[in-house]
Amino acid sequence: MKTSDKLPEIIQGGMGIGVSDWRLAKAVSTQHQMGVVSGTAIDSVIARRLQLGDADGRIRRALSDFPLPEMAQRVLDEYFIPGGKPAEKPFKLIPVHGLQIQRSGVELTVVSNFAEVFLAKEGHSGQVGINYLEKIQLPTLPSLFGAMLANVDFVLMGGGIPLAIPGILDGLSRWDTVELKLHVEENSRHQNYSHLFDPKAFFPKELPKLNRPKFLAIISSDIVAKNMIRRASGSVDGFVVENYTAGGHNAPPRRSDHSSSRYGEKDIPDIEKIREMGLPFWLAGGYASPKKLKEALDSGANGIQVGTAFAYCRESALLPEIKQEVLRRCMKGDLKVVTDFQASPTGYPFKVIWLDHTITNTDNYNKRKRCCDLGYLRHIYCKENSEIGYRCPGEPIQSYVKKGGDQEKTVGKQCLCNGLLATIGLGQVRKEAGSDETASELPIVTSGENFSFAMPMIERAGMNYSAKDVIAYILGEKL
Ligand SMILES: Cc1cc2nc3c(=O)[nH]c(=O)nc-3n(C[C@H](O)[C@H](O)[C@H](O)COP(=O)(O)O)c2cc1C
Repeated sequence: MKTSDKLPEIIQGGMGIGVSDWRLAKAVSTQHQMGVVSGTAIDSVIARRLQLGDADGRIRRALSDFPLPEMAQRVLDEYFIPGGKPAEKPFKLIPVHGLQIQRSGVELTVVSNFAEVFLAKEGHSGQVGINYLEKIQLPTLPSLFGAMLANVDFVLMGGGIPLAIPGILDGLSRWDTVELKLHVEENSRHQNYSHLFDPKAFFPKELPKLNRPKFLAIISSDIVAKNMIRRASGSVDGFVVENYTAGGHNAPPRRSDHSSSRYGEKDIPDIEKIREMGLPFWLAGGYASPKKLKEALDSGANGIQVGTAFAYCRESALLPEIKQEVLRRCMKGDLKVVTDFQASPTGYPFKVIWLDHTITNTDNYNKRKRCCDLGYLRHIYCKENSEIGYRCPGEPIQSYVKKGGDQEKTVGKQCLCNGLLATIGLGQVRKEAGSDETASELPIVTSGENFSFAMPMIERAGMNYSAKDVIAYILGEKL
C-alpha cells in the first residue's frame, strides 16, 4: 500500500454549502489526513465565484485542465465576469435541476465538481473525498461523474440511505449508463421515475480511465449500516458513524414517544455492532480532541471525522466575521447551538447557531420574503394527472399549498439554499421591500454542538488557527 492509500485517522467532514471548499480540503490532505470538499450545490458556488471575477484565477486554471475544453469554455462564457459583477447586481441564476436534464445545467454540474476536486488534489499525493447528501438527488449523477473525472479518492454520503450510489460508482468507472431512482411523493401508482446518465455521451472519442472511488456511507445507527451492507447496489468501503451532536443535518430521533423532539439513549449508535461488521469506520460528533481520538481508536474505529473545529479555522470558507463572532461568543460562554426540528425543508433536524445577523433571528426571519430560486431541496411530487411537480416547504406558503403541500410543513422552514450560500459570502442580492436599496440574503450558520476544542485550540494558535493546528492538536503533537 502506498502512503497515500493508507486510511487516515482524521477525516475532515464535508461541510456544505461550500464551507469545506478546496482550500480547506487541500490544507488537510497535505497533512496526510483526508480533506473532503462539499459537493452540495457546488454548481451554484462555482458559477458565483466566476461571477465575482475568480480573482486568483484558480477556477479558470482548473477548467483549463478539464478534458473537454469546449464544455469548460461554455461554462466560462456563461458565468465568468472579468473583474467581478457590481456588488449591487444580483448573481445570475443557474438552471434549476429537474427530472428533465437540461444540457447546460448538466455541463455546469460536471465541470464544477471536477474543478473543486481538481483544486483540492493539486500539488500533493494526499487523499481527497467529496461529500453529497442523499436527499438531494437531482444533481447526483453528473456530480459523481465530474468528481470522478478529477480522480476523487472517496465519495461520502449521508442525509438518507444511499443504497444506489455504490453501484453507480461501479457503473461510471466502466463508462456504463447509470440510473438513479428518484423519490417521488404522492406516487400512488408506484410509477418508476429515474434519472439516466450516459457518460459516453460527453466523450464521443477516446474515453479517459475513470477510477472507482471508495464509498463511505455516513450513518447514525448499526441498523442502517447493516442495511447498507446487505442491500447496497455495490461495495461499501466503510462508514462514518455520526452522532446527533454533529453539525449540519442529523438523523431524526428514534424516540418511542412521538410527542417529543428529543434525542435520547436510543439514538446512541452501537459501536460494538458496527465494529463486528468488519468494515473500516470513523466516529463523528464531538471527537475533536486527543482523548476522543484515543477513545475512538480503542473502540476499534480507524479514526474520527471532525467538522466544527475545521469550520472555524482560517482555510474554511465561512465568512471571517462569522468565524470570529462564533469563537468570541464561545470563549465568553455565550454560544447557543440548537437542534432545529423545523428549519430544514428536507424534514431532517438541522443544527443552527443563534446569531443576530442571521436568518435565525426571528425579526429577520419574519421580514424575509420567501422565494425558492435555487431549488436544491425541492421535493418531487406526482400530480393527479400523473405529471411531475416540484415544491419546497421553504417556498412562498401560498404556492406550496396550491401545489397540494400541507401548510403545516411550511412552519418555521428556512431557505437553506440561499442562507447557506450567504454564509460563505455568495448570498443573492435582492431589492429591499418598498425601496431601491439592495441587500444580500442573510446567512444561516450550522455547527456541531461540541465546542470543547475551542479553548485549547485558541490557547495554542489564537483565533486565526489553521487546519494544520487542528490536526496537530488532535494528534496530541506538542507545540
Ligand atoms: C458547518 C457544517 C456544515 C456541515 N455540512 C455537512 C454536509 O453538507 N454534509 C454532511 O454529510 N455533513 C455535514 N456536516 C457534518 C460534518 O461533516 C461532520 O460529520 C460533523 O460536523 C462532525 O461533528 P463535529 O462537528 O462535532 O466535529 C457539517 C458540519 C458543519 C459544522
